[in-house]
Amino acid sequence: MTREIVIAPSILAADFARLGEQIAAIDAAGADWIHCDVMDGHFVPNISFGADVIKAIRPTTKKIFDVHLMIAPVDRYLEAFAKAGADFITVHAEAGAHLDRSLQAIRALGKRAGVSLCPATPESAIEYILDRIDLVLVMTVNPGFGGQSFLESQLPKIERIKAMIGDRPIRLEVDGGITRDNAAAVAAAGADTLVAGSAVFRGKSAADYAANIEAIRIAAATGRGPTLREDAVQPMRLSESARTR
Ligand code: DX5
Ligand code: ZN
Repeated sequence: MTREIVIAPSILAADFARLGEQIAAIDAAGADWIHCDVMDGHFVPNISFGADVIKAIRPTTKKIFDVHLMIAPVDRYLEAFAKAGADFITVHAEAGAHLDRSLQAIRALGKRAGVSLCPATPESAIEYILDRIDLVLVMTVNPGFGGQSFLESQLPKIERIKAMIGDRPIRLEVDGGITRDNAAAVAAAGADTLVAGSAVFRGKSAADYAANIEAIRIAAATGRGPTLREDAVQPMRLSESARTR
């Protein structure tokens, strides 16, 4: 099954002093989803922001909030992120002993469930939970910081996960070091949802952000080949999200 390309700018690369304005700017610039990186200084070696910040910025856009939890333990915080306005809640396969339980909890909260794999984690980690998820996030850097270099070693893993997903309604997301230069390769491998922080927030204005988003979108469409290109360049609207997940 082929889904339209989704571009999800990571607000980790935004100016936190002007977070509301920056989200309005990427919304106007054509972002499909807003990717929120939550870091705890324990599961990953950096601290970013939590549910209260997500709640505060939720009214600034109608776009889908794609919340990537790099925290452990995670289960006790799921409800707070659901109430804060997350649409997708993604947990790390490495973050706890009971991934199946965490994913059930996310769906029980009425949210879409995602699972993320660090670069060293094999795709077999998701073999038995495929029917519990709406999204797989393949980390293409070691999580914790924006602005790192893309790990090409993850391309075969993306291909294998694409095959594992088959016709299931599961999005295949990549996150870390994504730019206009590697978007074609990840899309060719099977990714349909591209997170980008530094590569989107380069420049100053909404016009710069729009050009950055469009360049990544076009490169991804090119990677998919000519037959899929036209579909892929149509930005996904919120109203279409339910049927395209
Ligand atoms: C890394 C985060 C990413 C990161 C992406 O731990 O999950 O979302 O912010 O930023 P860039 O695109 O700069 O690598
Ligand atoms: Zn992320």
